[in-house]
Amino acid sequence: MGLIYFRDGKVIAESGQVKVYEMDDNRYLEKCPGHNLWASSWEIRDYEEQLKDIPRGNCLEIGLGLGVVSNYILGLEQVNHLTTIELDRDVVECYTKLNKTNNIKHSIIISDVHRALPILLNSSIKYDFIFFDHYSLIDEDTIKELSELVPIAKKLLVTDGKIMGWFDPFTPEEFLEGFNRIFNYK
Ligand SMILES: C[S@@+](CC[C@H](N)C(=O)[O-])C[C@H]1O[C@@H](n2cnc3c(N)ncnc32)[C@H](O)[C@@H]1O
Repeated sequence: MGLIYFRDGKVIAESGQVKVYEMDDNRYLEKCPGHNLWASSWEIRDYEEQLKDIPRGNCLEIGLGLGVVSNYILGLEQVNHLTTIELDRDVVECYTKLNKTNNIKHSIIISDVHRALPILLNSSIKYDFIFFDHYSLIDEDTIKELSELVPIAKKLLVTDGKIMGWFDPFTPEEFLEGFNRIFNYK
């Protein structure tokens, strides 16, 4: 029988309704009830493939999850600073417990992205790279939400800045064109 993270794994961090499990050197973040899986550390392979060495300078990321992307971006030498917007305080709490580095290059804003982006627009700070990853799949609702948020985020970019969204390899074909159009992917 195959292994299941919430049956066979070990809980290594917990806060409120959020739990992080470890199993076979992989981590899994769920928001209970119902073993609602939000992030897995093995996804690093997809993230590396999609992000390559594109993040640079001053970066903004939406959706902390396990912090797989945060840690990847922070590990790139051409990155000076990363700001992460995360809705769920318990997700941030678990990340802080498991990553005790207190990295001065990393700031986390606990907020809904819909509230945080307009507030950031009022500051003079601009970003070289912005990455959206606050959704768990790409469907009609995600496309509608991104088509509202991405134009706002574009105003936060420097002139030659780059904006990207996590691409779910299991996205149904009917949503590909809409997703690619939002991010100007070819
Ligand atoms: C798919 S996970 C991100 C995975 C992450 N990139 C990683 O490396 O583990 C999505 C995250 O976005 C957060 N989120 C969901 N809706 C949000 C919103 N409206 N604003 C900000 N964060 C949100 C969730 O709480 C969750 O932590």
